Amino acid sequence: METRIGTDINYAKKLLEAGDLVAIPTETVYGLAGNALNEDAVVKIYAVKNRPHFNPLIIHVPSFSSLSQYVLHVPAKAKLLADAFLPGPITFLLPKKNSIPDIVTAGSDKVAIRIPKHPLTLELLNQINFPLAAPSANPFGYVSPTSAGHVFDNLHGKIPYILDGGECKVGVESTIIGFDKNDKIIVHRVGGITVEEIEKITGEKVTFQVNTEAGPDSPGQLQSHYATHTPLLLGNIDTLIHQNKNKKIAIISFNRLYPEVPGENQFILSPTGNVEEAAKNLFKALRQLDTIKADIILAEYLPDKGLGRAINDRLKRAQYIYK
Ligand code: TXA
Ligand code: MG
Repeated sequence: METRIGTDINYAKKLLEAGDLVAIPTETVYGLAGNALNEDAVVKIYAVKNRPHFNPLIIHVPSFSSLSQYVLHVPAKAKLLADAFLPGPITFLLPKKNSIPDIVTAGSDKVAIRIPKHPLTLELLNQINFPLAAPSANPFGYVSPTSAGHVFDNLHGKIPYILDGGECKVGVESTIIGFDKNDKIIVHRVGGITVEEIEKITGEKVTFQVNTEAGPDSPGQLQSHYATHTPLLLGNIDTLIHQNKNKKIAIISFNRLYPEVPGENQFILSPTGNVEEAAKNLFKALRQLDTIKADIILAEYLPDKGLGRAINDRLKRAQYIYK
């Protein structure tokens, strides 16, 4: 199959209506999209990604008002957060209606649903009359894509079309939140909308339920996600350089160069120490340094607040399998 890249929304629409898959841009990462109401299309998503069937998919809709078509109950707090952040990188986990096939949610009675902030994809969602199931458009276990080129590198020959919306502005996936029996907020994945922002709007402290293994409420939070092929070590970079003197080292640093290592083997996420810029560059940095055939990639934690939490979470998941 030839994989084309372009900005033709009508072509994307036709493919999706025929049950084919299209990679779509969002503000977070590129998604591998198919008609969420068409089980054959959903099966193709799992197959192309090589993703286990127990790991459910987020559905994408054009507006907050379309939520009620697919979920049984929309908590008042979700509306509050929607007014503050949507369209944008927050996903709600809510009890699903029967209209959503079980295969989308991997059998769970809750569906993850979001309104992405990207003009091309919002226009596409407005032109079709079904939601789009879309996991990140990377092969299962690899780094998420933040450009059409990243998607092409991984999935060419496997999907007919990549809708090119340029580089993703946020660069880390959406924050996933659910609600307990009393509608208290549970964070299942840290992401593009920060915990601090959520707490400010709702006036309450969130709780976390971020499972690190396949578990019932967030089965996708597997440790091996986001991994580069090159082993990634996370910690104090000076110490790690010292411990790995005889190896070819690549470095992802927050804001500075390390003179012991050639500059071309280093990626500074944000020279000015801006955490938004760092998030935007993170997956590009991992992918780029994964191509230079280093023995190891060294990376460091950012201050663990705001978007730094999402960056640290992704870095941690990138390194795990090499422990
Ligand atoms: O920013 C994003 O959310 C991107 C863009 C493309 O929208 N999508 C994305 O999808 O990150 P994915 O499939 O790579 O990650 C979705 C996460 C997985 O960890 C999955 O297990 C979890 O959401 N998830 C999806 N549906 C769920 C459900 N019904 N219950 C619990 N967890 C769910
Ligand atoms: Mg993913």
